Amino acid sequence: MVKWLIYPTVHLNENKARETFANRWVVVTGASRGIGEALVRRLIAAHANLFLIARSEERLTALCTEAHEAGCEASFCAMDLRDKDKLEALCENLKQSLPHVDYLFCNAGKSIHRNIIDATDRMHDYDRTIDVNYRAHVALSLALIPKLSESKGHIIYTSSVSTLFPPAPGWSAYHASKCAANTWYETAHTELEKQHIVVQVAFMPLVHTDMSEANPAYRNLPAYTADEAACQLLKLSTTNRFAYKPWWARISAAIAMLFSPLVKLLY
Ligand SMILES: NC(=O)c1ccc[n+]([C@@H]2O[C@H](COP(=O)([O-])OP(=O)(O)OC[C@H]3O[C@@H](n4cnc5c(N)ncnc54)[C@H](OP(=O)(O)O)[C@@H]3O)[C@@H](O)[C@H]2O)c1
Repeated sequence: MVKWLIYPTVHLNENKARETFANRWVVVTGASRGIGEALVRRLIAAHANLFLIARSEERLTALCTEAHEAGCEASFCAMDLRDKDKLEALCENLKQSLPHVDYLFCNAGKSIHRNIIDATDRMHDYDRTIDVNYRAHVALSLALIPKLSESKGHIIYTSSVSTLFPPAPGWSAYHASKCAANTWYETAHTELEKQHIVVQVAFMPLVHTDMSEANPAYRNLPAYTADEAACQLLKLSTTNRFAYKPWWARISAAIAMLFSPLVKLLY
C-alpha cells in the first residue's frame, strides 16, 4: 500500500519509446549497474545505438554484446570518471567518433554517508563525490553541446530527491555534489534552450540498487526498482519538461523548506 502510494507504477509507452529512441545515439554514464544498466536494457529494447561509460569492463562488454544481438550499434569506454586525463581523452573521442549524439544520460554516481566530524582526514570523500557526481558530467556535457545542438538533443541528469529537502546529517559530500550539479543543469536548461538542447533533471527517490543497499537502513524501505527508475528517466526524456519529481516531494519539500529550523531540530 505504502509502496503503491509513494512509488506509483511507472507506465512507459513502449511504442513512444521506440519512436523516440530507435536509431538515435545515446550516451549513458554509470551504465554497468543499477539504474544505468536497466536504462541500457530499455534502450536496447527501443533499438537505440549506444555509447556506454563506467569502470566495469566485463559488464559493459556483455551489455554491448546484448545490444549487437538486438541489432543496435554499441561501444563503450571502461574508465574511472575521476581520472581527469582519461576524461579529457574520452570527451575528444566522443566528439570525433560518434556520428551524432541525441541523448546524454548523466547517471553515474558515487554516494557517501559519513558525518563531517568523522571525515576530518578524508578530503578524498569530497573529491570523489564532486569528481563523479558533478565534474565528469559537466565535462561530458560541455564536450557534447555542439553535437547535441545539431541534433536538438537532450541532456538528462540523475539527481536525488533528497536535494530538494534541508540537508540531512551525514550526507554533506553526496548532497553538496548533487546540489552543485542541480545548479549547473538548471542554469544550462535556461542557457542552452537557444542551442535547441533540452536539459532535464530527475530528482530520483529511493531505488533498490547496490548504492542504496550499502546503507542497511534503506534495505527494507519501499523503493523503486532499477527498471522503474530507468522508466522514469526515459519518460522524462520523451518530454521537454525540466524535471521529474515524485508527487509527494513537490508538496513536502516546500513545507520542509518553510519549516527548516524545525526539520533541523528533528535531525
Ligand atoms: N539508488 C538510489 O536510491 C538513488 C536515489 C537517487 C539518485 N540516485 C542516483 O542515480 C544514479 C545511479 O545510481 P544507482 O543507484 O544505479 O547506483 P549504482 O548501482 O551504485 O551504480 C552506479 C553506476 O555509476 C558508475 N560509477 C560509479 N563511480 C564511477 C566512477 N568513478 N567512474 C565511472 N563510473 C562510475 C558505476 O559503474 P562502475 O562501478 O562499473 O564504475 C555504476 O554503473 C546516481 O547518480 C545516483 O546518485 C540513486
